[in-house]
Amino acid sequence: MKLVDNANLEGRAIQTLPGFAYYSPEQFQRELERIWQKKWLCAGREEELPRVGDFFTRQIGEESLLFVRGEDHQVHGFYNTCRHRGSRLIVAAEGHLRQGAITCPYHSWQYCVTDGRLLSAPHFPDQLEGFDRTRYPLMSFPTRSWQGFIWFSLDDQAPYEALPDELGYYEKYHLADLTSGHRLTYEVNANWKLIMENSIECYHCTTIHPQLSRATPPQNPWWWNDSAPASPDFMDVGGMTLAANFERASLTGEARRPRFADLTDDDARAVYYFSLLPHTLFGLAADYVFCFTLWPIHVEKTLVRAYWLADPAVLTDEHALDDAFAFWDITNKQDWAAIELTQLGVKSRAFRDGGVVGLEDHLVGRFVDYIRAHTLNDSAESSSRGGR
Ligand code: FES
Ligand SMILES: [Fe+2]
Repeated sequence: MKLVDNANLEGRAIQTLPGFAYYSPEQFQRELERIWQKKWLCAGREEELPRVGDFFTRQIGEESLLFVRGEDHQVHGFYNTCRHRGSRLIVAAEGHLRQGAITCPYHSWQYCVTDGRLLSAPHFPDQLEGFDRTRYPLMSFPTRSWQGFIWFSLDDQAPYEALPDELGYYEKYHLADLTSGHRLTYEVNANWKLIMENSIECYHCTTIHPQLSRATPPQNPWWWNDSAPASPDFMDVGGMTLAANFERASLTGEARRPRFADLTDDDARAVYYFSLLPHTLFGLAADYVFCFTLWPIHVEKTLVRAYWLADPAVLTDEHALDDAFAFWDITNKQDWAAIELTQLGVKSRAFRDGGVVGLEDHLVGRFVDYIRAHTLNDSAESSSRGGR
């Protein structure tokens, strides 16, 4: 980790994405096909599905995905679509499936929660000519457990190493051993990229986040990770330092929980941020971890699933994380308001050619490159970038 003073940043201004990238259904479709159907994505936390048969659903565009803990105690991913005549199988956002089976609400075909095989198809006798039940399992996709999170890819060829085995400097937070004390889903009327762009810069913090800026003043020097994991989807977003009169990243700065055991004194006075693109942001504080995942529902609407994680030992009290939750809930809502205004603005003819990013929001330029490389150019465009 090295400390860098914002006053000494170097670099140059970079053009953002053009306006249409944030509202065009064709661009959205390209992103679904070339990013969302190709990458490793984070479905949620392992502890959201504690028992065999527990499930939750997730949505990407029009696709509904089902995650269920099977009898082998692993989480399995299935397309939420019946193989008989195509009904959506499960409408609920989460719940429990009894007797190890997923039953279609239309004609009662039943599938196994563990391997998706067709268990029963009423009045489809085995000897029915032209029907082989082994050809009609639920369509599945690979899942993996990583740092206590459930990951998946809709592409069974997605490179395994895109999700780094080790988190380098951030291993000391032992994310797999934490558990979620709070979870909340926000609905934001904006393109998912505007949310991601906002989350990887703090140029806006002084303007819209008085509480966050009191706790971690943006003008303080930033920590940068000089040994971040080598993955093209990993983005180190930097670490902010607490104000002198704050002991913790919260509204009051009060220390209500012990800090994580393996942190240095510098770590305990920092909040480090990183992203695994395209859709996660992690914020590592002294005594809790905040993170979110983005879910593009359509080109101008995104769900944000937010998690507040802590040591299970401190979560015996259900209000144990109220201070961390309140701090980020205020901050998140300030962000969503700014982002929804931006969604309105980028549709103007005045933004047809896009805008510009400078030094403090230089990571937006990296994200823009990522989007261009995947969806706008045939080959990756490389812009020279300075600073930090
Ligand atoms: S569509 Fe599912 S059983 Fe018919
Ligand atoms: Fe923000």
